[in-house]
Amino acid sequence: MTEWWKSGVVYQVYPRSFQDTTGNGVGDIQGIIQRLDYLAWLGVDAVWVSPFYPSPMADFGYDISNHCDIHPLFGTLADLDELIVQAHAKNLKIILDYVPNHTSDEHPWFIESKSSRKSPKRDWYIWHDAKPDGSPPNNWVSYFGGESSWEWHEETQQYYLHSFLKKQPDVNWRNPDARKAMLDIIRFWYARGVDGIRVDATIVSMKDANFKDDPLNPEWCEGEDPFYRVLHVHSENVPEIHDYNRWLRETNDEFEDRLLIGETYLNTADLVSYYGQEDEFHLPYNFQLITTPWEATAVKSLVDSYDAALPDFAWPSWALGNHDRHRVATRVGAAQAKVAMMLLLTLRGTSTIYYGDELGMENVPIAPEQEVDPWGILSPGLGLGRDPERTPMQWDNSPNGGFCASDVSPWLPLSANFTLENVATQKERPNAILNLTRTLLQLRKDHNALGLGSYLPLDAQGNVFAYGRKHGTEVCVIVLNMGAQDTEWRWEGLTAPFKVLLSTCGDSGSLHPDFLRLRPHEGIILINQ
Ligand code: NOJ
Repeated sequence: MTEWWKSGVVYQVYPRSFQDTTGNGVGDIQGIIQRLDYLAWLGVDAVWVSPFYPSPMADFGYDISNHCDIHPLFGTLADLDELIVQAHAKNLKIILDYVPNHTSDEHPWFIESKSSRKSPKRDWYIWHDAKPDGSPPNNWVSYFGGESSWEWHEETQQYYLHSFLKKQPDVNWRNPDARKAMLDIIRFWYARGVDGIRVDATIVSMKDANFKDDPLNPEWCEGEDPFYRVLHVHSENVPEIHDYNRWLRETNDEFEDRLLIGETYLNTADLVSYYGQEDEFHLPYNFQLITTPWEATAVKSLVDSYDAALPDFAWPSWALGNHDRHRVATRVGAAQAKVAMMLLLTLRGTSTIYYGDELGMENVPIAPEQEVDPWGILSPGLGLGRDPERTPMQWDNSPNGGFCASDVSPWLPLSANFTLENVATQKERPNAILNLTRTLLQLRKDHNALGLGSYLPLDAQGNVFAYGRKHGTEVCVIVLNMGAQDTEWRWEGLTAPFKVLLSTCGDSGSLHPDFLRLRPHEGIILINQ
C-alpha cells in the first residue's frame, strides 16, 4: 500500500488569518469549514491547522493552557468534530499542531508545579537551583530575543527553563508521568478522528541531561539574532531526542494510518537521522529550501544531496514557507513565485503549501504600532517579526478581502494588493499562480512520475535547475529558469520524444529538437510521449 501522504500535498492553515465567521477579526474553525470547498477545488490532500487550543495567546496559540479543548475565539470541540467530518467527506485529511515541548505558564500543570518544591508535578517541568552567585544554572538562551532561557521563581527559589517565552515553560520529557500525560493528548485527538500531527519544536524537546553550557558561537557578530550567540549543541538536537521521537511514533502507531510530521530545522545529515529505523518521524520537515540561496546550483546541490542521503524507506518532505518565515514570494521575488511553486510541487516528496502562497501573497509591511508578534517585539530591528507573513487570506475584493465583515478590523492588516490578488480575481485569470498551483496539484495526481516517481539529477546549466522524475516508463523533466534572463537549456536526452506538459507562462513553451528556450522566470515540465 502506498500511504496517501506520499503523493499528497499538505496545506497549512493559520487559523487566525484564514476566515472569520464570528465578526471579531480573527479566523475560526467554522471559517475553515466554510472554505473546505475551496481547498478541495484547489486539490490539496490534507489541511494542517496551527493551534486553536485555549491559550493566553502570548505566542498566538503556541502557549497552550489546555491541549484537549478549543479556545472560544476559534469555536468549540463540536466545531472541530464537524471540521473533521466535513473534511473527510471531501477527501481531505486533518492534521493538528501538537505542541509538546512546553505549555503555557497558565496551564494547570505548571500552576501546580510552581506551587511548591514538593508538588507532585514539580518535576513535570525543568526546575534548577541558581548558581552560588544567584545566576541561572547555565548559559542557554531562549529563541525570542536571546535572553537567558531560565526564569527565576521567587516563591520557590528556583529557576525554570523556557526555550521560548518565559510564558512557555518547557515540559520535562524525562519524567514518565509528564510524558504519559503528553502522549495521552495525541491519543485524545486521534480518537476523535484526526489524521496526523505536526510536532512543534521537535529538536528542543530533550536537553542535555547534565545541562552543560552551550559553547559560544565564534561566528556570531553583534547586531545579529542574539539566539545564535551560542551553538545550541546541548540545548537542542541531543542524542536522546531519538528516544523522544520513538515515544511519539509508538503512540502514533497505536492508531491506524496516522501521519507523524516533525518541525525540524536541521541539516540533511541530522534530518535523515530523524527517520530512525522507520520508527521515528514519517516526515521530518525539510526546511532547507527556505534557508538556501535562491540560485540554481545551490538549490540543485541541496536537492541532490538530500535525495541521495535518504534511506530507501524514507520519504522526502519539502516546504517553501510557514507562519514563522517570510513569504516565499517576498524572499525570491514576485516574478519567481511561480517557479518556486513548480519546484515545490514537482520535487519527490510530500510538500506543504503555506496558505496564500498559492496566490503569491507577499509579506505585508507592519507598522511598529501594529506589531503583535513577540519575536519581533523582543528583537527590534532584526526583521524577525512574523506578522508580515501571517496577514489575512485574500479571498475577494470586498472590503477586508472576504476575510471578515467590512465593519470589522482584522487582527492584522490585509495586503495593499488584495483587491487585485485574491482567490476570486485569480480564478478568472488563467495565467494566475492560483491556477498554476491547481494545475500542478492535478498533474501530481494524473502522473505517477510526478506524484511518486524517483528523482533523477541532471546537469545544472547557468541559472537553470533541471531534474527528472520517473515512474515505470513515464518520465517528466522539470526545467526551471531561476533567473531573470532568457536562456537556452540543452540536453541530449531531449532527442527522445518529449512534449511540454506545462509552462509557468501558460503556453506551450519553446521546445526545439535538442534544446529548450526559457523566458525569464519560466518553469517548464516536459513529459515523454
Ligand atoms: C515553532 C512554531 O512554529 C512557532 O510559531 C512557535 O512560536 C514556536 N515553535 C514555539 O512554540
